[in-house]
Amino acid sequence: MITISLIKADIGSFPGHTRAPQKLIDKCKEYLEEVKGQLIVDYYVTRCGDDIQLLMTHTKGVDNEEIHALAWSVFERAANIAIEDKLYGAGQDLLADAFSGNIRGLGPGCAEMEFEEREAESIIAFMCDKTDPAAFNLPLFKIFADPFNTPGLVIDKKLTQGFVFEVHDLMAGKKISLKTPEEMYELLALIGNRDRYAIKRIYRKDGLLAAVVSTEKLSLIAGEYVGKDDPVALVRCQGGLPAVGEVLEPFAFPQLVAGWMRGSHWGPLMPVSEKDANPSRFDGPPRVIALGFQLRHGKLLGPVDMFADVAFDRARALANEIADYIRMHGPFQPHRLSEEQMEYTTLPHVLEKLSSRFAPIE
Ligand code: F6R
Ligand code: MG
Ligand code: MG
Repeated sequence: MITISLIKADIGSFPGHTRAPQKLIDKCKEYLEEVKGQLIVDYYVTRCGDDIQLLMTHTKGVDNEEIHALAWSVFERAANIAIEDKLYGAGQDLLADAFSGNIRGLGPGCAEMEFEEREAESIIAFMCDKTDPAAFNLPLFKIFADPFNTPGLVIDKKLTQGFVFEVHDLMAGKKISLKTPEEMYELLALIGNRDRYAIKRIYRKDGLLAAVVSTEKLSLIAGEYVGKDDPVALVRCQGGLPAVGEVLEPFAFPQLVAGWMRGSHWGPLMPVSEKDANPSRFDGPPRVIALGFQLRHGKLLGPVDMFADVAFDRARALANEIADYIRMHGPFQPHRLSEEQMEYTTLPHVLEKLSSRFAPIE
């Protein structure tokens, strides 16, 4: 069995919340190189905006204390450099003072899957900046449940059995599993509400794990606004699962996602290459990158930068147009998030001082 762990954190960037510097990425590589061939089989380090991404393969299983401690110490050591260099938000996502058992709940986001490596194992790692975990609800639904996106659901016998979606209620801390196609409407009733529900895992009905998303909510962990969650996802492809092209297809639609400036605005999710994952305009627009890998006994062949392709130019152009349009709303909804979502931003501190001035309407 092989485990693939994608653990990410914002430990400092510049200028502002835009870009994690190459120096920090190089440091993380250096630290992982020390344990390559021992604790881990292989690794790849990159960034999406201000978030550093540690993709690691190993044989220890998910939620493994040694692997999580490794990720924590890599981030901690790199964060110390970020602090020395006076980077912006240095150490931002390391919410706990010290590591304790499992990195989930301490600030970093985490998507992991353990499986028997198939004869040929193709994986896409998605990484976002300036948005939250529910940003994956729409694309994952399309990939695994919408035949208009994934013809394999209709014409590939291994896919026609359908999938099971594990959905998390992030507010209540509860989960539910729903089957498609038979419970598709109930599934949509939940995941269409992106204030609350996020897809965590997807299994093929025969039990094969197909996708996993990091669903950690920073604001719920910290109890206050400390930046957006900037989620990641791992999706296995091909050979009885959606093809690489079916997995990428939903991202040709730059859906509106929550996040962007101050984690408080709806904005288009723009698919970009690794080198273009640099939020700028209005601290965005929110970005997503897609890196393709092939596994060979846990070794990572790749990545192929999947959105570094002219086929996604129009999605980017449309995202820019949507950005122009929605920005014109300024501080008004629906550009600004709903009142419920704004509770998890810095707005309540501002409204507090008005509370005593409210008088009954005669
Ligand atoms: C959004 C984000 C940024 C910051 C904004 C203000 O996820 O990280 O948009 O919210 O730049 O940052 P501070 O409060 O650190 O000045
Ligand atoms: Mg930041
Ligand atoms: Mg970020």
